[in-house]
Amino acid sequence: MSDTISILGGTGALGRGLAARLARSGRAVVLGSRDGARAEVSAAELRDLVGGTARIDGAGNEEAAAAGDIVLLATPWDESGESIAALAPALAGRLVVSCINPLGFDAKGPHGLTVPEGSAAEQVAALLPSSTVTAAFHHLSAPSLANLDKDLSGEDVLVCGDDAAARARVVDLAAAVTGRPGVDVGALRQARVLEPFTAVLIAVNKRYKTRAGVLLTHVDLSRYDGAGVTA
Ligand SMILES: NC(=O)c1ccc[n+]([C@@H]2O[C@H](COP(=O)([O-])OP(=O)(O)OC[C@H]3O[C@@H](n4cnc5c(N)ncnc54)[C@H](OP(=O)(O)O)[C@@H]3O)[C@@H](O)[C@H]2O)c1
Repeated sequence: MSDTISILGGTGALGRGLAARLARSGRAVVLGSRDGARAEVSAAELRDLVGGTARIDGAGNEEAAAAGDIVLLATPWDESGESIAALAPALAGRLVVSCINPLGFDAKGPHGLTVPEGSAAEQVAALLPSSTVTAAFHHLSAPSLANLDKDLSGEDVLVCGDDAAARARVVDLAAAVTGRPGVDVGALRQARVLEPFTAVLIAVNKRYKTRAGVLLTHVDLSRYDGAGVTA
C-alpha cells in the first residue's frame, strides 16, 4: 500500500499540477483547501482530467493534513507563519514537503525575499516541531505539470531535508511526478539556495518565452543510496 499524498493549497496552480501527475502514477491524493467544498470541486475536475481510476479527493486543509502520510505545502509564503502553525497538530508525525518559494517582484524583475529563518522550509520546520520537514518541487512549472502530455523526465527535482530517510522518500515521490527520481541535495538549509533560484528561472522564462527547468549534469542517479547518506 503506497503513501497517501495530501496537498495543502491543492486548489492552486502548483497543487493541481502535482496532484494530476501523482494520481496518474497511481498515488492516492487528497487536495486541501481553506474551503473544503472548493477542494472537492478541484478534485472532481482533476479526476476528469486524469481519467481512469484516479484517486483524488478534496477536503479542508486540516482534514487533508491528517489524511496524508506525506503532506505537500503548495501554499504562498506566509510571512507570519500563522496558517502553517495552525495546522501543527494535524501535521504531527507526517512527512511534510515545502514547495514554497518566497519571491518578490519589482521593476527589476523577480527576486528571492529575505526570510528570518533562512528559508521558507526552515520557517516551516520551526513551526512544525513534531513533523519531519523536507523541501522539493520548487523548480517545476505549474503549467508544465498540468499538461499531462509534457515529458518532464528531463528535469531534476532537488530535495533537501535534515532526515536522510525522509529525503529518500521524497526522491521516490519525485519519480511519481516527473518519471525521474529526485536529487538529494542534503540538509534543509539548502532551501536557502533552492527557493530564490526560482527567481532565476522566472527571469529566463520571460526573456526566452519558455518554461525553464533544472537539470544537473554528470549525476548518475543509480548511484544514490539514500539510507546510507546522513548529511
Ligand atoms: N506556480 C508554480 O509554477 C510554482 C512552482 C513551484 C513552486 N511554487 C510555489 O508553490 C506555492 C503555490 O503556488 P501557486 O502558483 O500554486 O499559487 P496559487 O495558484 O495562488 O495557489 C495557492 C493555493 O494556496 C491557497 N492559499 C492562498 N492563500 C493562502 C493563505 N494565506 N493560507 C493558506 N492557503 C492559502 C489557495 O487555496 P484555497 O483558497 O483553496 O485555500 C490557493 O489555491 C507558492 O509558494 C509558490 O512559490 C509554485
